[in-house]
Amino acid sequence: MKKLERKLPASRAVAQLDVRLGAVAANYRLCRTLSGTAVAGVVKADAYGMGMAPVARKLAAAGCDTFFVARIEEGVALRPLVPDARIFVLDGPRPQAVPLLLAHKLTPVLNSLADIAHWRARTRRQAALHIDTGMNRLGLGADEFARLAAAPRKLLAGIDIVLIMSHLACADDPQAAMNGEQLARFRSALAMLPPAKASLASSGGVLLGRDYAFDLVRPGLGLYGGNPQPARPNPFRRVARLTGKILQIRRVDRGEPVGYGAAHKVARPSVLATVALGYADGLMRAMGNHGKGAIAGRIVPVAGRVSMDLAIMDVTGVPPSQCRTGSDVEFFGDTIPVEAAAAAAGTVSYELLTSLGPRIPRRYSGAVA
Ligand SMILES: Cc1ncc(COP(=O)(O)O)c(C=O)c1O
Repeated sequence: MKKLERKLPASRAVAQLDVRLGAVAANYRLCRTLSGTAVAGVVKADAYGMGMAPVARKLAAAGCDTFFVARIEEGVALRPLVPDARIFVLDGPRPQAVPLLLAHKLTPVLNSLADIAHWRARTRRQAALHIDTGMNRLGLGADEFARLAAAPRKLLAGIDIVLIMSHLACADDPQAAMNGEQLARFRSALAMLPPAKASLASSGGVLLGRDYAFDLVRPGLGLYGGNPQPARPNPFRRVARLTGKILQIRRVDRGEPVGYGAAHKVARPSVLATVALGYADGLMRAMGNHGKGAIAGRIVPVAGRVSMDLAIMDVTGVPPSQCRTGSDVEFFGDTIPVEAAAAAAGTVSYELLTSLGPRIPRRYSGAVA
């Protein structure tokens, strides 16, 4: 992709993702204000599709000194960008990964008694400890935690636990009873372990209030302008805008089929615009006949199926002066919130953002040199 980008500047590309790094920094500061505690940047999955390098540099310049990634490879790529920061690797220390963790000064998150034993035997260094308080995903479950709590100093001997963390299952819903239940379980777990800094909240948790903040919050989606609690107004600033250019416009008669499978037939004489974004770019096929675009602030529907490189919009009624070959169609950004675009594909903003393909050039404003 690098080669293609070199040949074709973003300004001439037929599709692009505009990323406002100033808004990322503002969202980072908002997390600090709301939580009243330290804020880590979650930059896994290429910073949710925004591009890990420019995002991490911007966050570091805004004062962020702690980052979370999922995969060790992400940590290795992040290390030179933020040489002095703490980088937690959520996956944990798989045996083969230990030399890489050490060489790149990455801090593993220990998710099981086996992880703990393994990390003690090999290195006896800093680590985070992940307690599962009800999600049944990663982290020590109830049985393992009971064994740890019976002899924590013995089992953790030699390991410097720099953070005890857990993760909320329902932080997107402020009414969910499970939030309070997980908070109570986390507090009681902390009380049974040697003192250490604690972290429970991701973006949704930041919005649940300061009871959930502890010593460190770990937002991802909110930094990137998504709405962590979609039923409520979004307190975060929009970061990303996805646009594709119109490649071709045609007039069709009533009853004409549109796209693969002739899955749509126009109900009236119509104007169709073919746009240079498809499912290979992350414009999901499920948006066929459901998705929306915006041309100069006016909403237009996706007509027929989304294909690999193209989507067809019904632009009937849009003034021709605003809708020409080369005009931009927004799929999410200023007019269409990313949550609405995701909902049209039957998914969530997380999946839509992290599915954006490498073929789409990212254009940054507010980048740190
Ligand atoms: C353990 C953990 N912490 C924090 C986050 C960030 O969550 P969010 O993007 O909802 O802020 C994630 C994201 O999946 C996660 O898995």
